[in-house]
Amino acid sequence: MGLKEEILRRRTFAIISHPDAGKTTLTEKLLLFGGAIHVAGAVKSNKIRKTATSDFMEIERQRGISVATSVMGFEYGGIKVNILDTPGHEDFAEDTYRTLTAVDSVIIVIDGAKGVETQTRKLMNVCRMRKTPVMVFVNKLDRPCRDPFDLLDEIETELKIAVRPLSFPVSSGPAFKGVYNIYDGSFSAFTSNDRQTVSEAVKLSLDSPQLDEYIRPYTRKLRDDLSLVEGVYEPFERELYLAGELAPVFFGSAINNFGVKELLETFIEIAPSPRPSPTETRTVEPTEPKMTGFVFKIHANMDPNHRDRIAFLKICSGTFERNRNYFHVRSGKQMKFSSPNAFMAEKKSIVDFAYPGDIVGLHDTGNFKIGDTFTEGENLKFTGIPSFSPELFRYIENADPQKFKQLAKGIDQLMDEGVAQLFTSRLNGRKIIGTVGALQFEVIQYRLEHEYNALCRYEPIQIYKACWIESDNAEQLADFMKRKHTNMAVDKHGRNVYLADTSYALQLAQEKFPDIRFYFTSEF
Ligand code: G4P
Repeated sequence: MGLKEEILRRRTFAIISHPDAGKTTLTEKLLLFGGAIHVAGAVKSNKIRKTATSDFMEIERQRGISVATSVMGFEYGGIKVNILDTPGHEDFAEDTYRTLTAVDSVIIVIDGAKGVETQTRKLMNVCRMRKTPVMVFVNKLDRPCRDPFDLLDEIETELKIAVRPLSFPVSSGPAFKGVYNIYDGSFSAFTSNDRQTVSEAVKLSLDSPQLDEYIRPYTRKLRDDLSLVEGVYEPFERELYLAGELAPVFFGSAINNFGVKELLETFIEIAPSPRPSPTETRTVEPTEPKMTGFVFKIHANMDPNHRDRIAFLKICSGTFERNRNYFHVRSGKQMKFSSPNAFMAEKKSIVDFAYPGDIVGLHDTGNFKIGDTFTEGENLKFTGIPSFSPELFRYIENADPQKFKQLAKGIDQLMDEGVAQLFTSRLNGRKIIGTVGALQFEVIQYRLEHEYNALCRYEPIQIYKACWIESDNAEQLADFMKRKHTNMAVDKHGRNVYLADTSYALQLAQEKFPDIRFYFTSEF
């Protein structure tokens, strides 16, 4: 198969949701369809197994949340599907944002009783910024849910995207009858007796007399609802979906494996294959023969016997080959990889070739950073891997004077992994850690101790927000830096950062210094 065919048969996406909406369950059902796993529960139990064998993951186990993101690949109908898993816990939102830079589309899971929740809204903002095509799966129809039209309205206004139902539910909760598939004009009756394996839904057409039997007393309502759908919503247009302007919506129940197959089959048909990737200088087309890719995630310690890391490389163009030299743009060095990993289901294996859309795991002994680009010699840098303005801050201090070096190395590497951001105060040279979630402070402390044999201690600091500043007006910038001397810091790239104490101080600064640009995200 040629490069072009390999690209066209790839779908790389992430499932995102507010915690508990059913992301893990849906992921697992998709893997079941792909034959990648054979019993339900494998993904979850795998998580637990992992945590039991790895110290770091102990945090995850104790808290019952997923700290790490991983990659799960499978084949379905000749299509290579790569699911990039994202941590559900909001303290790890930044990890999720970065993962979203490596996907070509997204499936959003929404709890049919709860509707759009905070985390979904935030993640959708990132998708909108990147014009990522999104599909919505309204889950848990086997429980009493809100009215489908209300939910559709809420998705439209809260997620700020036009919607188009491609399936429509008949009732919910104990009276849930099933889902009418608008896309292919058939009705799937709900059966909840087989939760373990993939079962075929009973399919009926709208004019079949049997349908009345199945959905009584909702026959009339379904017909009314469907005509309302046709009256209210424009016909589905794939171009709008691909442009990130229209979200097709499906209804179902992930745990009952209901509506999942329809979702998967439509997804395979309409979701985009790998898309062009922007760099600082030009746009890279996936069909370009030369290999390019970037590191979007670094995962420490997957193998507890080796305290090393895996860097996740998203292939953007060309064919990645094992044992071939690639140019590591930041260091200017050639590197080759003798045992790059591919991810199938919950397993990883050594791969000889990988194509655009694939994720390759590279063994890393501490050389890579998030955002690093690999090419066949060209000086490229992929853009769009943001680092967000952190919201929680603490001074970090060495708690064991003997281990100064270990601490410095540990902090450095953890920052390269994107666990948090480090700032150095211009006032007193003290190190300040900024994070998006409180949990990261614990993770850092724990990992410094267990991986780097270093001890740290935190001290409180009052900061409302950190923002990167820049100005073409050198005089105003100098004046600002002088006046705000006590609130100035530098990030690890030496860029100027203003640490505003309060939202009021920030607002005032913005008003008084109109020529200064205040940024709330920065690229790595
Ligand atoms: P998440 O990854 O988005 O956090 O959600 P997850 O899949 O873990 O699902 C959260 C809870 O919702 C789980 O229950 C799961 O079984 C349940 N769930 C998922 N899909 C459906 C559905 O279609 N219908 C119903 N009724 N429940 C669903 P749990 O009690 O937290 O965990 P478990 O003990 O069942 O695994």
